[in-house]
Amino acid sequence: EIKDTKIRKIFDSRGNFSAEVTVILENASGTASAPAGASTGKTEVIAYPDNNIDNGIDFFYRHVKKALKGFNSINQEGLDRMLHEIDGTDNFSNLGGNIATAISIANAKAVSNALGIPMYRYVGGINYSMPRPIGNVIGGGKHSKNGTTIQEFLVSAQGKTVLDSIYYNILIHRRIGEILSGMFKNQSIGLGDEKAWTCDISDEDAIEIIKNASKDISSEYKIKVLNGVDFAADSFYDGNYYIYKNRKLTRDQQIDYAISISRDHGFYYIEDPLNDQDFDGFSEITSKVGDKSLIVGDDLYTTNPERIKKGIEKRSTNGVLIKVNQIGTLSDTARSVRIATEHGLKTVVSHRSGETTDDFIAHLAVAFGSPLIKTGTIGGERLAKLNELIRIEEELI
Ligand code: PGA
Ligand code: ZN
Repeated sequence: EIKDTKIRKIFDSRGNFSAEVTVILENASGTASAPAGASTGKTEVIAYPDNNIDNGIDFFYRHVKKALKGFNSINQEGLDRMLHEIDGTDNFSNLGGNIATAISIANAKAVSNALGIPMYRYVGGINYSMPRPIGNVIGGGKHSKNGTTIQEFLVSAQGKTVLDSIYYNILIHRRIGEILSGMFKNQSIGLGDEKAWTCDISDEDAIEIIKNASKDISSEYKIKVLNGVDFAADSFYDGNYYIYKNRKLTRDQQIDYAISISRDHGFYYIEDPLNDQDFDGFSEITSKVGDKSLIVGDDLYTTNPERIKKGIEKRSTNGVLIKVNQIGTLSDTARSVRIATEHGLKTVVSHRSGETTDDFIAHLAVAFGSPLIKTGTIGGERLAKLNELIRIEEELI
C-alpha cells in the first residue's frame, strides 16, 4: 500500500529539468526519473503539458497524489490504468508522459525493494537474460551541431561477458577519437548529447571510420563486433526528399541506401531508415535484408502497441526499440514487449539523448530478455546503466 509520494525537479544530462518521483510504502520506497528525447517521434506521449514541467507537477499535486495514497502498489497494471484515467487524454497531455513514467517506474522499484528482490526479477519473472550493449560512437542529427546527417553510428562488441563487451565498445570509441584527431590536426573534436564523437565529416566518412575502428578492435581482441546506424530519418525528411549534408535522396534512393548499408557495408543494426509513415518502405527493406540485419523501428512505433501491431501485419521490421517514456507507463511498455516478442520481433531497450542517472533501463532490458540494450558507451549518465548491468551480471553468474 502506498503511504505517500513525493515529486521533485532534477536535471538531465543536457541540463534540462526532469521529474523525479519517490513512492513510499510501509517499509520500503522507490525513486525514479524520466529521460527526454531530442529527436522525438510524432506519436510519442507528451513529455510535459505545454512543454512545461511545472504544469505537470501542479497537475500531480492537484489530481494524482491523493489518488495514489492507499493504492495497492503490487497492482502495477491498476496503477498505470489509473494514471491514464486521471490524466484523461490518450497522450498524457495533462500529467505529462515523463511524470507518468517516473511514477510508474518508482512504484515498481518500491515494490521490488519491499520484496527484497532486484527490479529485473520483479518485472521479468523467470524469463530474464543478459543483453549485449550497443552504443553510439559517432553522431550527428539532432544530437549535435554540424555532425553527420545520420544521427548515430553504433557498435556492439559481442564479448563473453557484459563487462568485456562494454570495455570493447569503449575501446572502439577511443580508437575513433584517435582516427578523428588524426584527420582534424590541431583542432578539437566534440562529443554529442549521447557522448558519441561529433565533427564535420560526411556520413560516408563515418561509415569507413567505424568499420576501420571496429576491425582494429575485433582483430586485436578476437571478438565479433556488430556495426549499426540509427538514421532517425524523420529529422532530415522534408516530406519529399531525405536531405543529407552533401546530397538529397528520393524515397527509393533512401531505401537502396539503407539496403546497401547492410549488404555492402555489412552493418547489422539499422534503425529508422525511413520516415515514420512509411511502413511499406520499411517492409521493402526488411524483406531484402531482414535475414542479415536487424531493422528496428523507433519513431516508427514509439513503443505503441497499436503501431507495433501494424508493423507486424506489414512485416515492416524485425526489431522494435523500447522506450518507456514514449508510451508513459511500465504496463504499456510490457504490453508492447509482449506483442513484439510473441511475433518474433527482437526488442532493444533504449536510453534517450537527454538522460538522468537512473539505471532502470538496465533492469528492463534484462527483464524483457532483450538481446541488445542501447545506452551509449561513455558519459556518467550512460555508464550508470552499463555499470548496473555489470552488477546484475555478477548476480546472474
Ligand atoms: P532521442 O533519440 O532520445 O533524442 O529521441 C534517440 C533515438 O532516436 O534513438
Ligand atoms: Zn532512434
